[in-house]
Amino acid sequence: MERVTVKAFAKVNMTLDVLGALPGGYHELETLFRGIRLHDLVALEKKSGGGVSLTWDAPPSWVKGGELPPDQDNLAARAAWLLQSAYPGQVGGVSIRLRKKIPLAAGLAGGSADGAAVLLGLNRLFQLGLSDAALARFAGQLGADVPFCLRPLAAVGRGRGELLEPVDAGPPLWLLLLKPPFGLSTAAVFARLDQLPAGRRPDLGQALAALRAGDFARAWSAMDNALAAAACDLRPELARWLEGLQAAAGSAGRVTLSGSGPTLAAFFPAAADARRLAARLTLSGDEITTAARDERGGTGESGPTGARGDVAGAGGRRLAARRRLPGWTVIVTRTATEADIANRMVSSDT
Ligand code: C5P
Repeated sequence: MERVTVKAFAKVNMTLDVLGALPGGYHELETLFRGIRLHDLVALEKKSGGGVSLTWDAPPSWVKGGELPPDQDNLAARAAWLLQSAYPGQVGGVSIRLRKKIPLAAGLAGGSADGAAVLLGLNRLFQLGLSDAALARFAGQLGADVPFCLRPLAAVGRGRGELLEPVDAGPPLWLLLLKPPFGLSTAAVFARLDQLPAGRRPDLGQALAALRAGDFARAWSAMDNALAAAACDLRPELARWLEGLQAAAGSAGRVTLSGSGPTLAAFFPAAADARRLAARLTLSGDEITTAARDERGGTGESGPTGARGDVAGAGGRRLAARRRLPGWTVIVTRTATEADIANRMVSSDT
């Protein structure tokens, strides 16, 4: 085998609680991770001469939110170096091409997803035969979110987020993701949290039980993100947007911040609710509201186009969100399923 392409699925946090401090400046978390269908494509190819080369493409408007790190800080490149140094006789040179669709510095674990995809892809490409446990150990060395990204279905994450307990989180959900035209640094959000009094916290047990029972009203009331107060303190407009989006979603959905933000995630049991909201949103001044007229459009799942807040339907049809949320990235997606994960190796030459 000479090459393989792997889907690197993003994640959201349905609940996120901060329990205390850990040695090394980290915080102890308890979070409900959920993998989503939104993904980067990570193409890996053997190359002669050893080493790691990295190229990437992403819509230029996304890079404004957070620079794609140079090679030595990039989790995809670091994942390759990690396996090369652990298995020098077996893992040769590799070129990595990232096709980014997960917004950067967004709280969606895009970099971690790419790192996990490289571990999985190189395990296949160089026939390392690594077990899930061995892959998880390497993933844990790369970052707190990387172990979940190896199998991004639903799991409770504890410790730094790397101690995973797979869980049944109920039926698939649809998401409307809104990424404002700026990024937030995870480290900065955690640092600000330390300066603030304790704020709102989620109830993980209630959220999980209610999601499994399909009791969404109860699930919505238990969902929260303890990092939201810190993110909103850094960017006060986020608080207004969270409020505005929740008002627009009504009782049909729940709006939270994903990870350390700034992406706003609205969860819905029904696809139609997510799409309808995407088609009606408008930014007026600093307020998110819904347009009076329902401007529907797009079919099925929609992906980001990266240009001025577009939502593209299956046929690339542009929606009103482009005009109404300039600079934002608007994505309608769904939670990932076993079948999505099983089919994540999208091409290989064997
Ligand atoms: O693990 P990762 O590199 O994604 O974390 C980035 C930064 O976020 C860390 O350096 C730390 O400052 C902060 N962080 C934290 N507690 C966590 C995860 C991240 O304080 N559980």
